[in-house]
Amino acid sequence: MKVMIVGAAGMLGRKLSARIAVEGIGGQAVDSLVLADVVTPDKPPTRTVVETHAIDLAAPGSAERLVRDRPDLIFHLAAVVSGEAEADLEKGYRVNLDGTRALLEAIRLAGDSGGYCPRVVFTSSLAVFGEPLPDLIEDTFITTPLTSYGTQKAIGELLLSDYSRRGFLDGIALRLPTIVIRPGKPNRAASGFFSSILREPLAGQEAVLPVDVGLRHWFASPRAAVGFLLHAATLDTSLLGARRALTLPGLSATVADEIEALRRAAGDKAVRLIRHPAIERIVAGWPRSFRTERAEALGFRAEASFDEIIRIYVEDDLDAPIAA
Ligand SMILES: NC(=O)c1ccc[n+]([C@@H]2O[C@H](COP(=O)([O-])OP(=O)(O)OC[C@H]3O[C@@H](n4cnc5c(N)ncnc54)[C@H](O)[C@@H]3O)[C@@H](O)[C@H]2O)c1
Repeated sequence: MKVMIVGAAGMLGRKLSARIAVEGIGGQAVDSLVLADVVTPDKPPTRTVVETHAIDLAAPGSAERLVRDRPDLIFHLAAVVSGEAEADLEKGYRVNLDGTRALLEAIRLAGDSGGYCPRVVFTSSLAVFGEPLPDLIEDTFITTPLTSYGTQKAIGELLLSDYSRRGFLDGIALRLPTIVIRPGKPNRAASGFFSSILREPLAGQEAVLPVDVGLRHWFASPRAAVGFLLHAATLDTSLLGARRALTLPGLSATVADEIEALRRAAGDKAVRLIRHPAIERIVAGWPRSFRTERAEALGFRAEASFDEIIRIYVEDDLDAPIAA
């Protein structure tokens, strides 16, 4: 099986490629793994043939080059994330919309001579939802994004569904929960503080909390996210019907729940490292909780507590012991 990850140098792309290198896909060996990103992706240690490409997906000809060898399975993770897509409108639309459209078009054209219909797993976001939001959001809730990033992801979902309906590809869009604890440096996602208020104190460093502790949101760990991507890679997509986008299971928790889990994992000293300056605007317009019956029925699983999410970070990403 030929597998390609676009956006492979990112946080999820790195974790996904490392896991595929060890496990393959759904018990099937991977013969070739193509890792593409605007930044050169690292090669995971594996006996599988790995090709890396430093490539801007939205540049003319890039998508065609990437699909020329007709990968059987394509993970499309490349994106300009929420904060940056809002700050730089042109870049956001160029990468998130034009780049996605270019990839789907290249797949359609590569299949022109017939016999090519790859599985495409696309990472969408909860940002496809916008206010007014109920406390519990059902699988059938309307998508009315209120950010440019959310709009670009919602269009991506529609394109993926249409290209799937037309038989050019076999797509599945995953609306990932906010992934915590993000290892390494923060990216420019507006939701970055949900990770930094745990990650920095666990390393003995200060973090700033810019929202009220009562803010509730929807979370899963990076390990769960990689599990979602791999599950989607082999799922029987006939079970999805025409609606190719799924809101994924997660943990509904408040910032206060995060902080209490931090206290249990690393003590009061770690909690004291969270600085809480006067709040200018409480982020009230974000989704708080979902009922994800469709995705759960299809076998997607996430964590049930913040203690578990912190434990996964300590096991998978914290190189030093928790700072005492
Ligand atoms: N991490 C989360 O909490 C979260 C939540 C919902 C959705 N998502 C989505 O999941 C995907 C992966 O998230 P992540 O946290 O790994 O993000 P990330 O920012 O770490 O990775 C995104 C990658 O895309 C690459 N990229 C950007 N522009 C590109 C271009 N023009 N051509 C090729 N590559 C380009 C970046 O270099 C980066 O390596 C993204 O699509 C993101 O929108 C993430």
